[in-house]
Amino acid sequence: MTAVTSPIKFSQRWHFAREQAISFLMQQAVENTGVVSLAAGLVDFATLPVPETQAAISQMLGDDAAARQALQYGTTAGSERLRRLLLAHLARLEGTTVEQLGIDAGQLILTTGSQQMLSLVCEVLLDPGDICLVAGPTYFVFLGNLNGVGAEAVTVDTDDGGMRPDALEAALEALAAAGRLDRVKLIYLVSYYENPSGVCLAEERRASIVEIAQRWSKRHRILILEDAAYRELHYDGPVLPSVWGCDASRDTVIYTQTFSKSFSPGLRVGYGVVPRDLVGPLCDRKGNEDFGSANFNQHLLATVLESEMYAAHVEQVCAAYRIKRDAMLSAANRYFSDISGVSWVHPHGGLYVWMSLPSRIETGFQSELFRRATQAHRVMYVPGELCYGHSPTERPRHQMRLSFGVQSPAGIDDGMHRLSRAVRDVV
Ligand SMILES: Cc1ncc(COP(=O)(O)O)c(C=O)c1O
Repeated sequence: MTAVTSPIKFSQRWHFAREQAISFLMQQAVENTGVVSLAAGLVDFATLPVPETQAAISQMLGDDAAARQALQYGTTAGSERLRRLLLAHLARLEGTTVEQLGIDAGQLILTTGSQQMLSLVCEVLLDPGDICLVAGPTYFVFLGNLNGVGAEAVTVDTDDGGMRPDALEAALEALAAAGRLDRVKLIYLVSYYENPSGVCLAEERRASIVEIAQRWSKRHRILILEDAAYRELHYDGPVLPSVWGCDASRDTVIYTQTFSKSFSPGLRVGYGVVPRDLVGPLCDRKGNEDFGSANFNQHLLATVLESEMYAAHVEQVCAAYRIKRDAMLSAANRYFSDISGVSWVHPHGGLYVWMSLPSRIETGFQSELFRRATQAHRVMYVPGELCYGHSPTERPRHQMRLSFGVQSPAGIDDGMHRLSRAVRDVV
């Protein structure tokens, strides 16, 4: 007799979160071995901090008391030692002193990568039907977080200086006119070398966006979530202040950063600097998830930050990525400049080059180009349409995110050559 299995009754949360593009991309990467990936968001293998990590671990384990402390559970908000060091780290990035920052270590929460902070913010702020204003394009995994809580992403017009303040103002006016202002809770900004577009939010726009959020916080606060994941991957061009630094009140901007790009993603150490009245709610939610991220990794990173190793490592990483960025830009010039209607962004940091094709050429998973690229020419990219919060019918479909993070300069050149041949097949 065959047993009859009843169907599983899934939660609404799962329905919101299903069919994540990231899972399809990972599956493509696994299935298409031998494909040159310009899609993977992995970091450079060659500069991963092996000696630095070895030194920090032997220092930690060489001290019995320190080793036992690191191997024990930590607290939900994370190691006090690391949070104090991060205040100094942030002060250095902001070009100021710890005293002038106007916050204390209690406003820092350590998370499992900055991705966890992005997710926690969505969980504690957004109900189904609530609205988050985003740039177009923006970080597609965060769009997945918004979907995951049933929130709506409303795209604000964006240009090569990032989200346009006048367009943000117009979007808020339109939402107010439609009686939907009470649903607007959040504005999400990737302020440095955006994933995917490589652009930085222009300096003069930073304070304007804070002012707009504060002015439109009529019945409740509209918060800004500043994702500064790539801040330390700076190769050239001006050093910009953070959006958080423009918020003198310290109650409008949530600032997130990570050590995944500047040190090691394997450690999964990220953090958020949050308004005082958000600390408790975020820790409540994090308590449900894990009541604290990996304590050992936090102590390891604290040991690294206390030494000279961190600053030296960031310099080394940036030097390596600058070479790779240049390799991708010269390959773009070499292989694409004679294809009419193709353009790309020149990033001053981060890991991505954003390329636009003539608007008639689609780049999505189902497109002829994606098929030619992955099957005939054995190269992969991230379709640009994944990075838009627009409804599926309104998204631009002719762009690609190209990552120079994981390939060697020669691999980048090879990948770009292959991709140009795939594009030539369909133009
Ligand atoms: C813009 C942006 N934010 C956040 C993250 C999350 O990184 P992590 O969780 O490793 O800190 C990433 C990862 O690629 C990213 O590109």
